[in-house]
Amino acid sequence: MTKNNHDNSQGMRKGLTNYGDEGFSLFLRKAFIKGMGYTDDALSRPVIGIANTYSGYNACHGNVEGLVDSVKRGVMLAGGLPVDFPTISLHESFSHPTSMYLRNLMALDTEEMIRAQPMDAVVLIGGCDKTVPAQIMAAASANVPAIQLVTGPMLSGSHRGTRVGACTDCRRYWAAYRGQEIDEQEISEVNDKLVPTVGTCSVMGTASTMACVAEAMGMMLPGSATAPAVFADRHRIAEQTGTEAVRLAIEQITPQSIMTEASFENALRVLLALGGSTNGLIHLTAIAGRLGLDVNLDEFDRMSRETPVLVNLKPSGEHYMEHLHQAGGLAALLREIKSLLHLDAMTINGKTLGENLETSPHILNQQVVRSAENPIYAQGGMAVVKGNLAPNGAIIKQSAASSELMTHTGRAVVFTGLEDLAKRIDDPDLDVNADDVLVLQNIGPKGAPGMPEAGYIPIPKKLAAQGVKDMVRISDGRMSGTAAGTIVLHISPEAAEMGPLALIRDGDLIELNVTERRLNLQVDEKELATRREALTPGIEPSKERGYRRLFLEQILQAEQGCDFAFCRPETTASVPRGQ
Ligand code: FES
Ligand code: MG
Repeated sequence: MTKNNHDNSQGMRKGLTNYGDEGFSLFLRKAFIKGMGYTDDALSRPVIGIANTYSGYNACHGNVEGLVDSVKRGVMLAGGLPVDFPTISLHESFSHPTSMYLRNLMALDTEEMIRAQPMDAVVLIGGCDKTVPAQIMAAASANVPAIQLVTGPMLSGSHRGTRVGACTDCRRYWAAYRGQEIDEQEISEVNDKLVPTVGTCSVMGTASTMACVAEAMGMMLPGSATAPAVFADRHRIAEQTGTEAVRLAIEQITPQSIMTEASFENALRVLLALGGSTNGLIHLTAIAGRLGLDVNLDEFDRMSRETPVLVNLKPSGEHYMEHLHQAGGLAALLREIKSLLHLDAMTINGKTLGENLETSPHILNQQVVRSAENPIYAQGGMAVVKGNLAPNGAIIKQSAASSELMTHTGRAVVFTGLEDLAKRIDDPDLDVNADDVLVLQNIGPKGAPGMPEAGYIPIPKKLAAQGVKDMVRISDGRMSGTAAGTIVLHISPEAAEMGPLALIRDGDLIELNVTERRLNLQVDEKELATRREALTPGIEPSKERGYRRLFLEQILQAEQGCDFAFCRPETTASVPRGQ
């Protein structure tokens, strides 16, 4: 690394127009930062910003401070100057009303901090569900050289001799408690065991999904998605990430040169082969949208039909992230679906995806990553259904659904929103049978607002007590990547936008046919027109203030990634590209 004269340093000079006098602006910048003891030599190096998302509320990011140290070591070994800075941190359970409501705020915060502060490249440390998408959305828009690092998954725990992990097992134990299969004592005992270490959820939930797709799309170092948060591997990856960031800074490799149509197709393919979270589709759509790319749901569905689910992790399968790491990490999957990938797609380490695969370790455990001949599920994890109930589409995670409910017509039991659901779902007098279709309205992007993960509607207590484990459930909301069931999500347009979901009444017949990709309300058009007439818009953004008003005015529907309209440039192409 050559030592530049400090007046030639790029990093500290970025955007020097604050006072109309560039020389004075640089002089002031240096005067202040020198208050922390830096020399001119240090300040002449490539400046690598590090987005530090440590927060006392965020156990998924509980190791961030250590990772910042390891990234700094890597940056300095390569001759750069690391400077960490805080941004918003989001944890799923501590983000009211929903973390999705705040994802775009984090994306705005991160983008503007990357723009505002002088840095030649940035390391983005994320982990919990919404943080990685927010950071990559920001990187796509800011287009400053950027590399993603994740905090890594937590380890699994043990409860009375059974392996447990957040959060598929959180749901399983809670459902057992609701069904009176386990008592007060046991539910409080397992509460101590579900999250045994810091790090992200240990199953193939949204955080693991986003880590894997970030690696697949080339924004993270190869092999870096799966290393557990508390492993030494995680710190080695952090160090290497810091070193790589200096190269990105010097060569000015931008996110837009990595995130191409080919890399999005690889990411979507991996999302399907993972049996990944349905949220992953929304996030990839939002990231692509930042680059002028639309995600075409029909083409995505075609891609799904030819992509088997091979990763045997909960909730679709049986294992946990630490096992995927020990089985060779994401590379083990990428190798199995090699023929379906664009191997020439460029990645963040300056090599193509194919070149990285050649050098990644061959450790195979076919219990964890199955071969294409012996898949967990023959088709991709998700299917897109459409019909008069979802003109712009809806999603079902078929790999986590019950096969006997995939073609089902049932009577609607309608809940008009979260409060109504909470009030009536466990009412012993609720008129509901196992064959009915549970409908939840007004939990879409605008409706709740922020599209909560309430699409995983609980089985009514009285049916749960009879042993009913699954029912067809439909909504305009989302579902946690850690949940399972025959659950139709992301119905668009949403009820709060007066979509057809808002027209369903108790007793209507709803037809779901996943094989034929259909979701229909069997009520005649005349009756629907009458009901439509009677609808009134329930949400008026102008009556709100602050972020909530911005959110309600700008939020887009699920098929546009729930991004803010003003953050998306004009669409120039769509992915997956047609055949
Ligand atoms: Fe953070 Fe699951 S709650 S990853
Ligand atoms: Mg989640």
